[in-house]
Amino acid sequence: MVQKGVVVLLLALLAYFLPTFLNISKKFLKNNSEHIFSEVARISYSDLLNSNPDIDPTLLHSMKQYGFFYVVDIPSYNASLELDYLQRFFDLPDHYKLPLAVRKHNPHNVNVYRGYGPVVGNVGTQYKEVFNIGPHETHPPYNDSHSDLQKLRSISRERNVWPNTDNPQFDRDFKSVMKSGFDLRLSIARAIVESISRALDFPGLPALFTEHEFSTLGLRKYPVRKRINSDMYSEFDGVLLKELEHVDSTVTVLSTFNNTGLQMLYKDKYWEAPVSGDNCFIINIGKLIEDITGNQIISVRHRVIEIPETRYSIPFFYNPSFDSDISRSMTGQVTEAGQKYRIFGEWMKDYLPAVEPGLLQQPTPSVSSDNTEQYSTDQLDDTGPLTLARLALD
Ligand SMILES: [Fe+2]
Repeated sequence: MVQKGVVVLLLALLAYFLPTFLNISKKFLKNNSEHIFSEVARISYSDLLNSNPDIDPTLLHSMKQYGFFYVVDIPSYNASLELDYLQRFFDLPDHYKLPLAVRKHNPHNVNVYRGYGPVVGNVGTQYKEVFNIGPHETHPPYNDSHSDLQKLRSISRERNVWPNTDNPQFDRDFKSVMKSGFDLRLSIARAIVESISRALDFPGLPALFTEHEFSTLGLRKYPVRKRINSDMYSEFDGVLLKELEHVDSTVTVLSTFNNTGLQMLYKDKYWEAPVSGDNCFIINIGKLIEDITGNQIISVRHRVIEIPETRYSIPFFYNPSFDSDISRSMTGQVTEAGQKYRIFGEWMKDYLPAVEPGLLQQPTPSVSSDNTEQYSTDQLDDTGPLTLARLALD
């Protein structure tokens, strides 16, 4: 009799609370499924850096499905400090920034890729101010070779330039913050390659990155466009852009802070990617990783749309060693890149000018390739006859 009473009481409670429970569940599910990218992995920094194999299947799923994911909860990362120094750098007057400019914008300088690039208005769907930082503090030996590849090898190793203002404290702190940011992202990128290597059972993958001399931390400022013309719209869907539609090279560790505008191509449509915020990085998989893994994971095509405010971001591009053989996948098949190139440096010679038309000249017809077309739908800058390699240390 008592048991029957308990059952009735439980049923009554269930009937009373069920609608509320269902409502909460519905709300919870709605909040967590309403974004197209709600299933994209968010991996903890400590699990990644401690090589916790439990994260590998989750990471692999996101890399197969979306071509990007997030690394979260980074104890040593202060995004607002980094953003503050980034903004203060771009706020410097031109007489401090132009001496740091790459050779395209300051012919007195030897650096071609590392250093400062002002906003250039005539490169179609790309509209940004940049400052690139690499891993090298001393310049490579003078290169009098006539080989484009040898000149590009010098570019890959060119030294950093740093601001020299009337505020030595700022100069020191800026360099210190950015070098720490470089090292942090380098450790993350390395751990990602290790995770891919474990997940796909490709033990030879990390060895392709022994040197990573072309790796670069890129400070980016995207101002609001003052003038608009028909070249600035996406050929894909007619949207006004700040950054051209492209895929990255290998592994990118990206901070967007709280700036919107980054869109990822997924199921034949561009969708806004959640920002990296205060304590997180977005990881983009690039074309070469797709190639080298035999298309087991995919690269993500992405872009930045025009937004009505100045936008800041910091991508870090992690790349294979200059001489790494990228012509064969980990299973020995000829890769898409391998149909034209053997080593990473050769591939980069065509790729880099196509995605950085504001900093670098596009390849001349003799060195441009079908592959160039696939990286960019942009109207590239064509203001001079120099190629990337011819700019180097001539
Ligand atoms: Fe990118």
